[in-house]
Amino acid sequence: MNKIKNILNKNNLSREDMKYIFKLEDKNQLQYLYDYAYQIKEKYVDKKVYFRGIVEFSNICEKDCYYCGIRKSNSNMDRYTMDEKEIIEAAQWAYENEYGSLVLQSGERTDNEYVEFVEELLKKIKSIGDGALGITLSLGEQSYDTYRRWYEAGAHRYLLRIETSSKRLYEKLHPSNHNFKSRFQCLQNLREIGYQVGTGVMIGLPYQKVGNMVDDVEFYRKFNIDMVGMGPYLKHMDTPLAKKVINFDEKKQLQLGLKIIALTRIVMKDINIAATTALQALNPVGRELGLKAGANVVMPNITDKKYREYYKLYENKPCIDEESKECRSCLKKRVESIGEKVGFNEWGDSPHYFKRISQKE
Ligand code: 5AD
Ligand code: FES
Repeated sequence: MNKIKNILNKNNLSREDMKYIFKLEDKNQLQYLYDYAYQIKEKYVDKKVYFRGIVEFSNICEKDCYYCGIRKSNSNMDRYTMDEKEIIEAAQWAYENEYGSLVLQSGERTDNEYVEFVEELLKKIKSIGDGALGITLSLGEQSYDTYRRWYEAGAHRYLLRIETSSKRLYEKLHPSNHNFKSRFQCLQNLREIGYQVGTGVMIGLPYQKVGNMVDDVEFYRKFNIDMVGMGPYLKHMDTPLAKKVINFDEKKQLQLGLKIIALTRIVMKDINIAATTALQALNPVGRELGLKAGANVVMPNITDKKYREYYKLYENKPCIDEESKECRSCLKKRVESIGEKVGFNEWGDSPHYFKRISQKE
């Protein structure tokens, strides 16, 4: 027990300290870690959870990532794209139900028709409640110009996971036409244009070493990230990477997911960190555990129920049979069950972002 206390008492954690934490199995020490991270969360971002209603509006994807269920080569998946009316309806629902922000996510497409579709969509969503909804995009790698157009149309946050900060590991998880450097360049472009930038990784991946996990946390720090969405790797039967997994240990995956949340909170302090759905795929109270380990954002699914099962990045995706309103009350209850409240009607941008901006001026 003393060891973890000594580590967390330091101002800056060394690589060795972080490695120790990623390898830690002792229950009491782990609880100490989560509680410590929770105190930092309370101090820097409050015991308040922000909801971002997520619309997964299309599962058509040009990419072929080895881990992802909606990869281009997966012919076992029926493809869909919601039409504008359906997406606007979901956004309207989010507004009426006091969700301060919206996330638009889809498979990756870069053709003109798609870029324009999103641009028009953004303008229409922005007109709901006179700009009431904050909009986060999670639409993958795009050109500088596309990012700029979407920013000007009303999006102000962008989530683009780097997936892993190790170029070597990145190349093992993707075909050769997927490029680590371009992905990193996208993050820089987004920052330059003015977005609040979020990134993230998967943890518990085949080939991933403890040192890679430490590098991931270091990556958030060096890039001075405003928000993070990350989670444990989960298998999807119809993907090449699933075949490389020998022993899939759900408990360990969940634990890794919680450890990286706690460490990220300890290192970055005032950023926004999502308790992702992947945590709940591993444990019915996974998202609550994420919040207890330092996360402060949840992304309730507001996609029309008829599409949910087709947006399957991994197996056991929760909330496939629920309607948006069921997820709302379910998640509200979950948040309240751990003594926190939901920041309804607030955009909930991270204090880190405001600090970063004011230091720049
Ligand atoms: N397990 C966990 N996360 C996954 N993602 C894609 N496939 C998986 C999987 N099998 C994550 C990626 C991507 C995000 C939208 O979903 O990190 O960036
Ligand atoms: Fe969807 Fe609980 S969040 S049912």
